[in-house]
Amino acid sequence: MNNKAGILGIGSYLPEKIIDNLYFEKTMDTSDEWIKTRTGISERRIANDNEATSDLATKAALKAIKCAKLKPENIDLVIVATATSDMVFPSTACIVQNNIGATKAAAFDMSAACSGFIYAMTVAKQFVENKVYQNVLVIGAEVLSRVLDYTDRTTSILFGDGAGAVVIGNVEFGGILSTYLGSDGSGKEFLNIPAGGSKLPASQNTIDNKLHTIKMAGNDVYKFAVRIMGDASLKALEMANLKTCNIDYLIPHQANIRIIEASAKRLKLNMDKVYVNLDKCGNMSAASIPVALDEAYRLGKIKKGDNVVLVGFGGGLTWGSSVVNWSIQGGKNE
Ligand code: UT7
Repeated sequence: MNNKAGILGIGSYLPEKIIDNLYFEKTMDTSDEWIKTRTGISERRIANDNEATSDLATKAALKAIKCAKLKPENIDLVIVATATSDMVFPSTACIVQNNIGATKAAAFDMSAACSGFIYAMTVAKQFVENKVYQNVLVIGAEVLSRVLDYTDRTTSILFGDGAGAVVIGNVEFGGILSTYLGSDGSGKEFLNIPAGGSKLPASQNTIDNKLHTIKMAGNDVYKFAVRIMGDASLKALEMANLKTCNIDYLIPHQANIRIIEASAKRLKLNMDKVYVNLDKCGNMSAASIPVALDEAYRLGKIKKGDNVVLVGFGGGLTWGSSVVNWSIQGGKNE
């Protein structure tokens, strides 16, 4: 009997509205060429005015539950990883729990910025393997367009909205072989939203100075990311007693194509073993990894028995990685 937790079902949702690079070319001092060559991004999805993070999360969650052949009342716990919760409280997870009718589930949010999905998956794994809960719904969901300063060319071009979800439960085959998490709070100034919390509550001054929007020292985050993506992937492999030659597929956080290519090189992987959707989606923070994982699975790029490395980094600073031995049959044309 395999006592490991693994992914029972997966789903994702992207809003319909698309903003391409030409929009930014028209509204600020940038170009399609600069954005594509420096980031790899061509377009990103943006939520409608009436869509909040919980709405995107709900759609992704229902797909994941269906894929797992379960019903909402079979879910014991809902964890939403997000940096853009609907409101300060209640948690977005509580709103999703009610939306989907997971009447028996506990619910809470996870705050680890872009690494949030791997953090939440790690927590889910503990609950399942310790037999506290049977089925844990883990969602990464963001509406980052609500926290962007669309006059700041160094941040607004990078991010998009979306949601991805998995159901974590006991699997007969494979499962989550390892998870590795890390943080370094000394880097808190590199990437943050300064206002709206207890340190700097909303005021006319914070609004006038756009302090409720993402601030980033892009190049510092870039250098950190290139180092940590490789280090963290190697650590998760070591914890699973595997080597780089055992990787079948890599799902990296989708922040910048140059960061992804550097990670692939460090792991000795050809880019055909690496999933990239940031050209179409931009950086969706906690939603990037589960959306990419869902797309790769549905395109038939990940098959039962494959060793899939998930790796991400983000505000905090935080990072996380995992080796998942894929346990769901199917994929392509499912
Ligand atoms: O999920 C985690 C979230 N964050 C990230 O992943 C971000 C990681 N960092 C990055 O992806 C890159 O650092 C960026 C894409 C944000 C920036 O690329 P870079 O190669 O690190 O550029 P830079 O910040 O060193 O800036 C180079 C130049 C600057 O001009 P000067 O000072 O050299 O004259 C910027 O002002 O590029 C300028 N620049 C732009 N130019 C045209 C910055 N943004 C733009 C823009 N269009 N959108």
